[in-house]
Amino acid sequence: MKNLTLNKNKNVRKCRVCSKNISPFMTFGKMPIANAFLKKKDFKKEYFFNLMPCFCKNCYSFQLFKQPDPKKMFHKNYAFFSKTSKNMRIHFEDFYKWIKKTYLLKKKTPFVIEIGSNDGILLENFAKKGIKHLGIEPSANVAKESAKNGVNTLVGFFGKNIIKKVLSNYGKADMVVLANVMCHIPKINEVAKSISEILNKEGYLIFEDPYLLDVLKKVSYDQIYDEHVFIFSALSVKNIFEKYDLKLIDAIPQETHGGSMRYVFTKKLEITESPRLKRILEKEKKYKIHKSETYRNFKKNCEFSKVNLLKKLQKLKKLKKNVVGYAATSKSTTILNYCKINKNLINFITDTTPIKHDTFSPGMHIPIKPYKDFSEIDVDTAFLFAWNHKKEIMKKEKKFLKKGGVFLTHL
Ligand code: TYD
Ligand code: ZN
Repeated sequence: MKNLTLNKNKNVRKCRVCSKNISPFMTFGKMPIANAFLKKKDFKKEYFFNLMPCFCKNCYSFQLFKQPDPKKMFHKNYAFFSKTSKNMRIHFEDFYKWIKKTYLLKKKTPFVIEIGSNDGILLENFAKKGIKHLGIEPSANVAKESAKNGVNTLVGFFGKNIIKKVLSNYGKADMVVLANVMCHIPKINEVAKSISEILNKEGYLIFEDPYLLDVLKKVSYDQIYDEHVFIFSALSVKNIFEKYDLKLIDAIPQETHGGSMRYVFTKKLEITESPRLKRILEKEKKYKIHKSETYRNFKKNCEFSKVNLLKKLQKLKKLKKNVVGYAATSKSTTILNYCKINKNLINFITDTTPIKHDTFSPGMHIPIKPYKDFSEIDVDTAFLFAWNHKKEIMKKEKKFLKKGGVFLTHL
């Protein structure tokens, strides 16, 4: 961890997609695991790594230079439950309805696999309708949650070993879906190959993830953290999956996670690209998503954003305002550690997830408190770390706003 400045010669690795040499174009500095909320007794053994994004000029993928061991990130105490947001529940119900209407209606007994099914927020919709399904989820605690709602789940990491089991017990699938999971997978070629093998010859792969163009345009650098080993563009996913006979035929923008993209691939290679996909690919090209200069600019924009944010927070401190964080998101870990914001600037962070309560934020050790600690005291400014849930939160916080409370974001 000594060398945090970039040394081009030292910082070279093979691209996870195409194996060409790649180097980071910037560093966010020393970073803990984004979702590793911790107790005081564990401060001393906290794990840190250098968070550095890379852009591959050969295959156009945006990826992390180093990702911590997945076992450090996804385990039996994984702190992320999808169902904490009402709007996300609605989103996944709509996602289910759209899949059913667009792709499964003609199938008599479709079989759907979800990789990284978390607490079952998407699959429970299939389960309720008696549709044959299987969730594959590495974090046992969240998988257990999904079983309560009748979701059939296998606990484990998707890959060569698990597909043998799935093929012999269930047969090939009509559809593989993933939501906010593909971008977590470092061995993307192996997974793409396995997905291609597990799908029948008319099968579809559909996944959605935070969208690179949104991150670049909004300077929402907080999407960059340990779990997100990739941030995809349509151009990059096309390159990855077409090698495994999965043809990209559509891309549909989504509002979730502050700007996501849903990609549709099929094994039926005769299907043509949608006009919408063509427009999206054009738009990416116009933004120069395939050029290194775009990432040099992004770096400058991040630095500018950091200076600006610190100025604002320091001003609030001078004015003796009570500033608290709203929602202990994974994303907040990048902002707090990159900008070195500790409890001098933010008193505590409120969050609705019980297992995060009475812990401290990774790296900067800001206390995490239940929602009532926020609603029952006078807060002047709430730093909205869950800016992607702004609509839902603004509705909920009318009283806070009426009292003169202000929301702040880094964007
Ligand atoms: P999300 O943006 O999905 O998090 P991440 O950056 O980790 O992907 O937000 C989920 C977190 O935000 C979760 O810890 C619960 C918290 N949260 C609240 O505390 N209050 C709210 O009203 C909402 C919508 C989320
Ligand atoms: Zn590459």
